[in-house]
Amino acid sequence: MPTAPTVGECQVWRLPMGSGHWGGFDVLDQDERERHGRFLRAADRDRYQAAHVGVRLLLGHYLGVPPAELRFSRHCRHCGAGHGKPVVEWPATTLDFSLTHSGDWVGLAVAAEPVGLDVQELAEGTEVAALSSTVLAPAELRWWAGQPAETARTAFFGYWARKEALLKATGHGLAVPMSTITLTPPDVPAQLVEWSGDRPLDGPVRLYDLDAGPGYMAAVAVLTTEPVRITQAEFSGTTLSGEPRPAG
Ligand SMILES: CC(C)(COP(=O)(O)OP(=O)(O)OC[C@H]1O[C@@H](n2cnc3c(N)ncnc32)[C@H](O)[C@@H]1OP(=O)(O)O)[C@@H](O)C(=O)NCCC(=O)NCCS
Repeated sequence: MPTAPTVGECQVWRLPMGSGHWGGFDVLDQDERERHGRFLRAADRDRYQAAHVGVRLLLGHYLGVPPAELRFSRHCRHCGAGHGKPVVEWPATTLDFSLTHSGDWVGLAVAAEPVGLDVQELAEGTEVAALSSTVLAPAELRWWAGQPAETARTAFFGYWARKEALLKATGHGLAVPMSTITLTPPDVPAQLVEWSGDRPLDGPVRLYDLDAGPGYMAAVAVLTTEPVRITQAEFSGTTLSGEPRPAG
């Protein structure tokens, strides 16, 4: 049975895809069911269900409450509307979490400090050259332009994952242009070099690349001064009880 992360720890869980796997649709609240129902593609519904049932099962276990009773809220730090970084509203907790869905990957990070997780699929159709000045800062563009094509492609998605992880930890999301953030190049450990946007960065950040398997780049960000111990594992719901969960 997993135990909740304490300060200085961050858990990254991969949640299996497939609506057949994730029983417990009934743990979702009205808002989650409506959002689930609005997806047109079955794969999007499956990713959403895996993420939202998964986070309720794990956080319910950590916080000692039935998964259906957890309440989440979203509050955009820019416009105040009900979107943005989701947080646990009840029960009171210092645990933070971050969700990501990309291709076959559904990921959940949990930490005792603000956390952001991002996985990017190395999608064939993405025109990285056309997007490079949107994602990369000037110094990064200069480094990137000197790389061979395949390295450049992987590096582009690596930068993207690191920056989105950071922007999800702070809750800014893409309201802060990724090109205003400068990071170390992907061939050295991830670190923030410069944050030049108008909006504030809330404090020091630790960034880590993750091994997300072939075809994916992934990173996690934790807002803290101290190094963080990252663990990665699969969370299937069975992790909690040791018994297969009924589907449906
Ligand atoms: C958050 C964002 C970076 C996610 O990008 P993505 O690559 O499409 O999606 P991912 O699957 O990696 O992550 C999505 C998850 O991030 C979380 N999320 C959404 N907004 C977030 C924010 N501002 N900060 C942190 N996490 C956020 C949610 O849990 C979401 O999953 P859910 O919808 O199933 O709950 C991007 O969609 C974004 O910035 N959107 C908001 C843009 C904005 O702020 N506009 C200004 C409004 S005033």
